[in-house]
Amino acid sequence: AAAPLIDPFARPITYLRVSVTDRCDFRCVYCMAEHMQFLPKAELLTLEELDRLCSAFVGLGVRKLRITGGEPLVRRNIMGFFRQMSRHLGSGLDELTVTTNGSQLARFATELVDCGVRRINVSLDTLDADKFAAITRWGRLPQVLEGVAAAQRAGLRVKINAVALKGVNDSELFDLVRWCGDEGHDLTFIEVMPMGDLGNEDRLDQYWPLSDLRRQLAERFTLIDLAERTGGPARYVRLHETGQKIGFITPLTHNFCESCNRVRVTCTGELYMCLGQEDRADLRAPLRASDDDAALVAAIRHAITLKPKGHDFDYSRQTVAGQMTRHMSHTGG
Ligand code: GTP
Ligand code: 5AD
Ligand code: SF4
Repeated sequence: AAAPLIDPFARPITYLRVSVTDRCDFRCVYCMAEHMQFLPKAELLTLEELDRLCSAFVGLGVRKLRITGGEPLVRRNIMGFFRQMSRHLGSGLDELTVTTNGSQLARFATELVDCGVRRINVSLDTLDADKFAAITRWGRLPQVLEGVAAAQRAGLRVKINAVALKGVNDSELFDLVRWCGDEGHDLTFIEVMPMGDLGNEDRLDQYWPLSDLRRQLAERFTLIDLAERTGGPARYVRLHETGQKIGFITPLTHNFCESCNRVRVTCTGELYMCLGQEDRADLRAPLRASDDDAALVAAIRHAITLKPKGHDFDYSRQTVAGQMTRHMSHTGG
């Protein structure tokens, strides 16, 4: 077998996040600008190119593949791509999964299960329809809730991802926890990162440190720290009283870059070595230059030697440091 991918900080790279489209049917305020210029189709990797690229990574030891976007389920014939990727399950790949806004799940949930997907993450920050419409700029909450219900009926395990936003969903903490508990979903909170157009001071004003969220939870529940991980950055607790699992993704209050195991590919075939840095390599050129994967594999191996230590996001001096001007939707989070 090929030598595994190990970065300069001795971190094995076993998790690939692949954005299959820059498009999305929502425009979450912390993720995209209201008026986004989307890429022309010729810029995108074709599904065949995405297949070659992901398969090359699996050959290099990647065991977890997460499909992202934009909204991955709006890409034409995306189920054909999932089906292609499912051939790696059990022979290299341990997990094939997706992070979605849920809007298309009612259509695709059963097909995802057929393709070997077992667990999905759905972005949902609020259970208040008006707030939901404000965050997503025009999304309809009932459509997402129907999608989540369809996913559950199809047998998918659902993890809800909520970006923690002061003044937006902090008042709903216990409603979100209760709803996920009742529905049987895991729930993970994410600290809002300084990416995209911050425009004004909104990002700092809205930053809700998860240390504070955790403290509030601990006033109402007994939190049991869990050692188990899901291969991503979240740390989990179990609520003793309800048995449910709550995750924390804390790039600001607790940097987890030391155990980073992942890289990202954009829909145009750029390999980003870190969410919070600009270091990247073009994989589209080697993909298109030859049907042979040797140059592609060499480009991947070289890129991994350039993976930076971590992000520089920091709000601790009451200013935004380490900001990335590219939008979160560009690299799929
Ligand atoms: P699990 O498989 O459930 O562990 O998922 P995951 O957390 O790996 O994936 P998901 O797409 O749910 O990621 C949630 C969010 O966590 C991302 O969209 C990012 O906002 C954040 N995140 C994921 N990986 C990183 C990372 O390497 N660095 C930083 N700073 N944030 C990350
Ligand atoms: N900071 C933190 N999380 C973000 N997401 C999108 N933009 C940001 C940001 N600026 C989250 C989405 C989704 C995941 C893909 O990334 O809500 O759950
Ligand atoms: Fe779209 Fe997801 Fe970004 Fe929201 S978070 S705008 S759903 S890509």
